[in-house]
Amino acid sequence: MNASSPSPAQNQPANATLYGGVTNRRVTVRDLAAAKQRGEKWAMLTAYDALTAGVFDEAGIPVLLVGDSAGNCHLGYETTVPVTMDQMVMLSAAVVRGTQRAMIVADLPFGSYQESPAQAMHNAARLMKEAGVGAVKLEGGERSARSIELLVEAGIPVMAHIGLTPQSVHAFGGYPVQGRGDEAAHQLLRDAKAVQQAGAFSVVLEAVPAELAAQVTKQLAIPTVGIGGGPETDAQVLVWTDMAGMTAGRVPKFVKKYADLRGVLGEAAREFAADVRTGAFPAEEHSFH
Ligand code: KIV
Repeated sequence: MNASSPSPAQNQPANATLYGGVTNRRVTVRDLAAAKQRGEKWAMLTAYDALTAGVFDEAGIPVLLVGDSAGNCHLGYETTVPVTMDQMVMLSAAVVRGTQRAMIVADLPFGSYQESPAQAMHNAARLMKEAGVGAVKLEGGERSARSIELLVEAGIPVMAHIGLTPQSVHAFGGYPVQGRGDEAAHQLLRDAKAVQQAGAFSVVLEAVPAELAAQVTKQLAIPTVGIGGGPETDAQVLVWTDMAGMTAGRVPKFVKKYADLRGVLGEAAREFAADVRTGAFPAEEHSFH
């Protein structure tokens, strides 16, 4: 190698260690634990269908979440509350089919695990067996610890989700920032430690002050995944429709919009309709003889 040619490390994409280093198998919980050890940050996106999941997989997103945000971002509900197990199984199976390398995590939807650890086990097993996901996610800290323990004992990797837990939207009266004030901050720390102790391999921190998310991240051995948790978490997740500009109307403050897909798609549809009206489409090259 001469002085002007790039070193192998320079040739690698920025995410080479976690993603580029794993060429012919899916990312696993061990890869994510090792990334935390080395201080390597990673990205997670939601996905609800095979086509978009395939795009994200090819783009090198190491973890895809089949979130129950499918409720409001994909299925037309106002919240995540109505989403059912059958819907989650169908969407998750599609995301698994559309990907080769990303770890696929599927949400246990509202009402599918709160009754008992046995109910959580039954439904997590459905996601593993019928959809083929690599891990499940459920909401709640101390209150969900027993269920997490049972799933982990059964060999199911669990991602926990604390802070703003959207399935509790009606109890919260909206989507307020969590963990503000001493008592709430202490509770968040207790929740984070409880899910780690129960065996969760990672924990989502949603809508919590950046300083608190940084403190939790320092105190935990497992990776934290922030969404509205500031820059210090080990990973960041966004809902893909927000990230790519597909969402209509306002998005939360923590979203960065990386594209205007809604604009692009709308314009394409308008042009197509106009071409059909004027007879510009189909042209000769689109016709059989
Ligand atoms: O359902 C979802 O998309 C989520 C993310 C917001 C973390 O839980």
